[in-house]
Amino acid sequence: MELTAREIARIAGGEMLAGDPDARVSSYAIDSRVLEPGDCFVALRGVRDGHDFLTDAFAKGAIVALVSEAVDAPVAGATLVRVAEPLAALGALAGHARTLMADTTVVAITGSAGKTATKDLTAAAVATSRRVHASPLSFNNESGLPLTVLSAPDNTEVLIAEMGARFAGNIAALVEIARPQVGVITHVGMAHAEHLGGREGIAREKGELVEALPASGLAVLNAACDASADLATRTAARVLRVGRAPDADIVVRDVVLDDELRARFVLETPWGRAPVALALLGEHQVENAAMAAAVALELGASLEAVVSGLEVTQTASLRMEMVRTATGVVVINDAYNSSPTSAAAAIRSFAHLRVTGRRLAVLGPMLELGSHAAEEHEALGALAAATGIDVLVAVGEGAEHIVEGARGAGARGSAAGGAPRRGSGVSVVTMPDAAAATGYLIDEVRFGDAVLVKASRAVGLEAVADALVRGASA
Ligand SMILES: Nc1ncnc2c1ncn2[C@@H]1O[C@H](COP(=O)(O)OP(=O)(O)OP(=O)(O)O)[C@@H](O)[C@H]1O
Ligand SMILES: [Mg+2]
Repeated sequence: MELTAREIARIAGGEMLAGDPDARVSSYAIDSRVLEPGDCFVALRGVRDGHDFLTDAFAKGAIVALVSEAVDAPVAGATLVRVAEPLAALGALAGHARTLMADTTVVAITGSAGKTATKDLTAAAVATSRRVHASPLSFNNESGLPLTVLSAPDNTEVLIAEMGARFAGNIAALVEIARPQVGVITHVGMAHAEHLGGREGIAREKGELVEALPASGLAVLNAACDASADLATRTAARVLRVGRAPDADIVVRDVVLDDELRARFVLETPWGRAPVALALLGEHQVENAAMAAAVALELGASLEAVVSGLEVTQTASLRMEMVRTATGVVVINDAYNSSPTSAAAAIRSFAHLRVTGRRLAVLGPMLELGSHAAEEHEALGALAAATGIDVLVAVGEGAEHIVEGARGAGARGSAAGGAPRRGSGVSVVTMPDAAAATGYLIDEVRFGDAVLVKASRAVGLEAVADALVRGASA
């Protein structure tokens, strides 16, 4: 949205601190590393203080900066607007932009996993018939959502916004800015259970989205998720139940995975029936795709166009990214994040992969589960042991619970490490961190083996996958 520094100061309740009140911006950045010439730089206080990067931001071509301190102009002539709290100012600017987008339909997508995938699928399906603007990458929080709204071109017909929640109240704050007419909840799982108060707290939080929808709006819920019945009672909007339940409004049937783990299924809708072959890997993507289809069909796209949009959607990086190396090893890099539902989904899909060698699963901690951590890591280990994995490499904090779960399900091997044997049942090894796991796997993995890598992002297990791809193809 195009604004002058003076307008920014007025909308955000701030004041001109320096420079030209008529300086004009139409794009906004919170990270000077990705700032583009002409941007408004918003100096947030996060892990790092944005005020430390003002000089850098202006050197890269920022026109205006939003600050909360009485700083001196970092370069001659720099335009500075001072506000009490730049993050709140960013939200206020986005709220203002939303008010001006009176003809835009806003689709908000939340859920414990699959938000980014569903957002990308929805954007591709809707873009076949409407002008779409969608959250970049996984921009789903109190800064990413306002940036998404502010970067929407003037002629945007449908804005597709990802919304995440780590703490209670996050979704309510985001819907207040974006005011969606359509809300999608992929499913309610256990991600961020620690801060949100278990699964009940998570359902309560996600419910803030459907509660905010107008009576003329639409709530798209996962028919196979047991939280959906309650969520349906919390909205004035019309409800569409979508997914793998025979009585759903849009039904997913006949799901199969091909040799590359790409999901194929049949979509049955009030607009017709169609086979779909996704480029995305994993069975769980069919529900995301069906929800995306529901939104696009409701917004007027033809079934044929919707299917073509779903089928061309590519995975975002580090989500079930499969590489077949020159030395005959399959590496599935799913190290973007991990939670009980997404880890279980990855393991279940991995079990479908046809391999001539062994299946190795490298599983690291699922963070932010609080008092549920031990139980959920045990369940993960038990699932790995029950789904035909040959070698389970448990990494880092909580590894002992994964091992315990696997042992309870009949695994063998030493929790202190040691070479696993080939044969029936899963062998278990533990590694203290990503570097140790990399060293172990580089020696261990052989032609014909397949390796799944999965953990919360902070654990950095993508390095294991990268090393395997590099090492194995070197
Ligand atoms: N419906 C689903 N059920 C279970 N796991 C899923 C589902 N959809 C995606 N996943 C898995 O969850 C992980 C994250 O996917 P994605 O990035 O789409 O989710 P997200 O909700 O946007 O995550 P974040 O909260 O980090 O933004 C990936 O490993 C992906 O394969
Ligand atoms: Mg995301």
